[in-house]
Amino acid sequence: MRRTGRLGRMDGPWNANIHYDTRLAACVPAAAKAVLDVGCGDGFLAARLARHVPFVVAIDRDAPVLGRARARFPEAAVTWRHGDILTHPLEAESFDAVLSNAASITCPMRGPRCGG
Ligand SMILES: C[S@@+](CC[C@H](N)C(=O)[O-])C[C@H]1O[C@@H](n2cnc3c(N)ncnc32)[C@H](O)[C@@H]1O
Repeated sequence: MRRTGRLGRMDGPWNANIHYDTRLAACVPAAAKAVLDVGCGDGFLAARLARHVPFVVAIDRDAPVLGRARARFPEAAVTWRHGDILTHPLEAESFDAVLSNAASITCPMRGPRCGG
């Protein structure tokens, strides 16, 4: 869907999370080869990242939501993983960047962390 509004031309669906995906993606170093999207939801951020990053893993603990992401972005070079980030086996330090849009609110924090 294409709309024109005060923010200019917009292609595709829009919501507040999708809006901030652009900013999150801009934080990824240009040389990043592997990026993890935690709580990927419908997969918009992961699919965006996959346009520039060779290896993108997107994890979500909600199977139906993850299924929607796979179906929505069948061509995206994303490794979709079903699981809880707190328990899913991921090799330590195997990613150049770890992003999460609106998912940390449901992950208990174990202590203060610089950068949120
Ligand atoms: C508010 S949605 C945001 C989805 C997506 N990041 C976006 O920006 O639209 C939060 C997502 O995080 C997932 N999630 C929450 N806690 C999680 C956890 N501990 N491990 C994996 N996924 C988690 C939920 O299943 C949900 O799909």
